Amino acid sequence: MAKKGRVFSGARPTGRQHLGNYLGAIQNYVALQRDYECVYCIVDLHALTSLTETRELRQNTYEMALEWLAAGLDPKESIIFVQSQVPQVTELHMLLSMVTPMGRLVRLPTFKEKVRQQPDNVNYGLLGYPVLMAADITLYKANVVPVGEDQAPHLEFTREIVRRFNNIYGEVLVEPQILLTQVPRVMGIDGVNKMSKSLDNHIELAATPEETRKRVMQMVTDPARKYRNDPGHPEICNVMTLHRVFASDPSQMPQIEADCRAGTIGCAEHKRMFAEDLNRALASLRARRAELAQHPQMIRDVLEDGACRAQAIARVVLREAKDAVGLP
Ligand code: TRP
Repeated sequence: MAKKGRVFSGARPTGRQHLGNYLGAIQNYVALQRDYECVYCIVDLHALTSLTETRELRQNTYEMALEWLAAGLDPKESIIFVQSQVPQVTELHMLLSMVTPMGRLVRLPTFKEKVRQQPDNVNYGLLGYPVLMAADITLYKANVVPVGEDQAPHLEFTREIVRRFNNIYGEVLVEPQILLTQVPRVMGIDGVNKMSKSLDNHIELAATPEETRKRVMQMVTDPARKYRNDPGHPEICNVMTLHRVFASDPSQMPQIEADCRAGTIGCAEHKRMFAEDLNRALASLRARRAELAQHPQMIRDVLEDGACRAQAIARVVLREAKDAVGLP
């Protein structure tokens, strides 16, 4: 079947994935494979911009690839690879850097936020983060880039750089469209912060059913509800938000919400139901993960093959870009 165009997306290697990663990215990556030619990249070079300690990088990359595959990314259908294994991206990054005004990078809200987060490590690579991202996308002439809201400034930046490059050197690069991933805001078990590994408020896809249950029982629910029979507010309860997504039988949700609102079902009771549904929803992913984990060489082969296929595209586009600039 003819596909609608090319998708590119990337994610930093953060190791074991959690529900936030799944709903915010992975699930969408899987769905896009049907209609688009997809290129999915584990951006280890981008990760380096924020790491002073790289001991876990290799393992995190492997683990993330493993879980992408377990979740349904299909290496026959899509190109799945590790950024640093396609070195052409660094060369295109260099060319793009020449048409990037410094001031534009310094003013990006994402850069300012990083400066706040890591004031002792404001390195050159960090400033160039969006330029490398623009190189990722344009190296494959991607038409569509699925990302979360937080990455929108980077996509806008990419589009600008493409226009500037093409204006100066000729129409070589493709201006990508942003595809904003529509997901309920996935909060951590603390109920107030976005789910993240660094805050340790996450639930891992690969957790055992018992671990999952334990984490779910720690989840903060409706803060206004103190006693079991108090009326609940499902619209502000994080457990309810996630339960709607992972419900075994979605037709039961209105009743569960009504019972919560009436105070006839308690938070602990509801969490037990949710934990059960969540474990059921993740069972096949977990089984595939366990099976794949038996064959680490196969994961490495998939990434090797992905890098090969990515390079085949990258070489051609880089050649075009160098020709346009006037490099031998
Ligand atoms: N910056 C993205 C993030 O932190 C990751 C990323 C790198 C990316 N290169 C990309 C996303 C290219 C989309 C396209 O989530």
